[in-house]
Amino acid sequence: MKTLGFIGLGKMGSSMALRAIRMGMSVVGYNRSKERVQHLKNKIELLSSIREVCNRADVIIVMVSDDKADEDVTIGNRGIFDNIKSGRVVIDSSTISPSLSRKLTDKLRRKRATRIEMPVMGGPSLALRGELVAIIGADRTKYEENLDIIKIFANRIFYAGGAGSALMLKLALNFLIAAYAEAIAEGLSFVKKAGLDPMLLIQILNATAYKTAFSETKAINMVKENFEPTFYLKHMAKDLNIASITAYEIEAFMPALSTLKEIYRGACNSGLADLDYSAVAKFLAELNSSKR
Ligand SMILES: NC(=O)c1ccc[n+]([C@@H]2O[C@H](COP(=O)([O-])OP(=O)(O)OC[C@H]3O[C@@H](n4cnc5c(N)ncnc54)[C@H](OP(=O)(O)O)[C@@H]3O)[C@@H](O)[C@H]2O)c1
Repeated sequence: MKTLGFIGLGKMGSSMALRAIRMGMSVVGYNRSKERVQHLKNKIELLSSIREVCNRADVIIVMVSDDKADEDVTIGNRGIFDNIKSGRVVIDSSTISPSLSRKLTDKLRRKRATRIEMPVMGGPSLALRGELVAIIGADRTKYEENLDIIKIFANRIFYAGGAGSALMLKLALNFLIAAYAEAIAEGLSFVKKAGLDPMLLIQILNATAYKTAFSETKAINMVKENFEPTFYLKHMAKDLNIASITAYEIEAFMPALSTLKEIYRGACNSGLADLDYSAVAKFLAELNSSKR
């Protein structure tokens, strides 16, 4: 049986690791901060370095926050590049810059290791159930060779092309989601300012063809001011920033993206970074309540 080695046991990494254990896989994991994974110690075999993960795992799954984190664990001092054995596979599900992903893939190729870019759609609870939507940016043959592992985590899988391509799609998807959440947040502020019950807006929306999984869950939480995070607002702000830089690089004109990036950044800077991204509603509500 193949051993899977997780690097990054945050909300998503830990859920994916627990899913793999439920599916009967042999799993080891590493997290930079030991104190954050104490609650996992009876469930996942925790290792104390990336080197140990590279020694034990046939397939390494990386699920870290951002570009800096991924550079640190992949090509940083005592990272994957320094320790990986020839022929091993790295599946990287972090949402990072497409350009960085291409660079990391090229680097690992020099060690005769395969890197599969696999950004995912869906949060921790879908990860636990193996119901993520995976987008693949990798050599097609290598992707097909590792399909058994990918299917542990995802029940819908889309092949996009080579390294960078899956992340381009992921950034476009997160832009859509950020726009949708922000639009609902603005609608709620508008209705509230008009002296009406904001829940009525969501109830009416959900009675129409425009209802979505978001409008049936997180939009209701927006009204109830429940911003318990499944996807951190700071990560949405990070994704919009990457999307904006990438749009500039590929000369895509995306005027709404610039505005959204500033709104989510403003929300982060006003102390909401560690709440759910739906707390963009709290940011707008606070701005509206301070205006006359
Ligand atoms: N949550 C979702 O619904 C969701 C869905 C799809 C994609 N994503 C993406 O998946 C990735 C992980 O998200 P998450 O929700 O699991 O985030 P998270 O809970 O914040 O976990 C982030 C992980 O990255 C690690 N990390 C950060 N900086 C590091 C560094 N310099 N070196 C080593 N490790 C570092 C953290 O370790 P420490 O504990 O030591 O800080 C932690 O294990 C992000 O790119 C996010 O955009 C999230």
